[in-house]
Amino acid sequence: MCGIVGYIGKDNAKDVIVDGLKRLEYRGYDSAGIALIVDGEIFTYKKQGKIRNIEVELRRVPVYSNVGIGHTRWATHGKPNDVNAHPHLDCTKKIALVHNGIVENYAELRRELTEKGHTFTSQTDTEVIVHLIEEELKHSSDFFTAFLSAVKRLQGSYAIAVITLHQPDTVFVARKDSPLVIGLGEGENFVASDVPAFLSYTNRVIFLDDFEIATVTSSQVSVFDLNGERVGKQTVTIPWSLSLAEKAGYKHFMLKEINEQPRAVADTISGNLSWLRKETELEGIDLNSFNRIQIVACGTSYHAGLIAKFYLENIAKIPTEVDYASEYRYRDPIVDEKTLVISITQSGETADTLAAMRLAKKERAKLLTICNVIGSTATREADTVIYTYAGPEISVASTKAFTTQLTALFLFTLYLSRERGTLSSEEVERYLRELMELPSKLETFLNLEKEEGVVRKIALEFYRAKDALYLGRHVNYPIALEGALKLKEISYIHAEGYPAGEMKHGPIALIDENVPVVVVATKGKVLEKVISNIEEVKARKGRVIAVTNPSVKKVGELADFILQVPEVDEYLSPVVNVVPLQLFAYYIADFLGYDVDQPRNLAKSVTVE
Ligand code: AGP
Repeated sequence: MCGIVGYIGKDNAKDVIVDGLKRLEYRGYDSAGIALIVDGEIFTYKKQGKIRNIEVELRRVPVYSNVGIGHTRWATHGKPNDVNAHPHLDCTKKIALVHNGIVENYAELRRELTEKGHTFTSQTDTEVIVHLIEEELKHSSDFFTAFLSAVKRLQGSYAIAVITLHQPDTVFVARKDSPLVIGLGEGENFVASDVPAFLSYTNRVIFLDDFEIATVTSSQVSVFDLNGERVGKQTVTIPWSLSLAEKAGYKHFMLKEINEQPRAVADTISGNLSWLRKETELEGIDLNSFNRIQIVACGTSYHAGLIAKFYLENIAKIPTEVDYASEYRYRDPIVDEKTLVISITQSGETADTLAAMRLAKKERAKLLTICNVIGSTATREADTVIYTYAGPEISVASTKAFTTQLTALFLFTLYLSRERGTLSSEEVERYLRELMELPSKLETFLNLEKEEGVVRKIALEFYRAKDALYLGRHVNYPIALEGALKLKEISYIHAEGYPAGEMKHGPIALIDENVPVVVVATKGKVLEKVISNIEEVKARKGRVIAVTNPSVKKVGELADFILQVPEVDEYLSPVVNVVPLQLFAYYIADFLGYDVDQPRNLAKSVTVE
């Protein structure tokens, strides 16, 4: 996610803002910028790259100001470069704005504002907001009214901070879905995406809620709803250390990122809706130019590919193969111009995946990449890119990237199916409605876990295990693989994922009372078969931990431990079923006292063969 810092007060705004942006660097970013009100003008400086580039330059430029805003950009729309970096200015250069989130209706707003004579300089969705405020100001009595009117027209997610020559003693902020907090100082006030940005100055904060805007001066903070009515807000004192604050109070980034999945899935849906609904073009791909698909990926991304095979073959009815990228590149695959090769990669820098892409391209295949990092190598070498909007994934163990990859792959399947006639528009909309319910279902499960700690208690029962077996069938067999990968990569316990039907062909020899057997047993066409497999395990004194739904009573009676998850469409069940397994691995690794975010021998992005 992007980082926002704003300041107004007695100190040098430049230093406070740069210091604050540095404390948000953990959020990941590709460019940074600052805007200050200096001698009746707005001074801006923004660059692709790290904050230190800005800092060096600002030291050379003697600017002093008491009010300003700054931003670290995690690109969602528009490549990482100087022009797309925030802040963005209106045509009159009297308004500067920074934004974190996704403006879903930016295409429509950009068309409208261009027709009204506004000139755009960037490819970002964000820039439409500052021109919208400028446009609203033409028929508003004051800046606040214009700001409020503009914010009310936005669809999607936003945390916004604005400074303006029209009212230079005030920072204007607004929030919907993307976090924004206000820090209360003595004769000075702060705004930021996250508490660490100003925690060294004050720990007294006001958390803005969705659909609220605020005016912040050096001595006063006023909060309003979108009707312009004042809202009373509580001041909260933050007890966190700086390190805890960077993880938003979570002990590790992995736990924070597991809990960010509802927002990440929601952002991935809203960030891709425009091409799904054909309001914009999914560039670089002719859906009639291929008659089969090959998926290449590594690790967790490979598991997403195995699930996508079910989507693409069962729903879009197109033959689909899935390969480990490291195997694909040496198996002399049959590839031609009628093949679509889909690479799935969180980082966009995985060497094996890039090599597989280059091999496919040489054989004249079309390349689509599903990626989480704008401007990464994979996105520059693919013909078409579908982004996940998970925000930066800091922990080595991939969690929110995985669930957003499944979301993006499902959206592509709907798009392809409608074009190939295997789904009607009504069926696409029905599936889309199911998909849009996922964030709240994930939220429900995660909130219940925070209250009851069911997964944590079961992890406490098994954290001394030496081996573990994970079983699943059909669309949830890859979830067994993913659950096993999560456990082994952060707790170093040997864990094996297996198709439940394959257990009797070998792994059943492993089972005794010391080997936990995790079984994914949610509603679906193969549930009865999975129940039989659970009975086979029980007959050999195995202890079963079952991921299942409340309505599946038989599993509840058979299993020793139950991880209950909300019921969703079978094809979407992997997105929900994986979450208790992510938490199970996390708690075990934490109980063992390991470095959860940086497991031994592992790197976040494997950029070597
Ligand atoms: C998963 O938890 C691991 N971090 C690893 O398997 C990862 O999924 C794999 O290296 C692929 O990375 P990518 O998605 O960035 O290409």
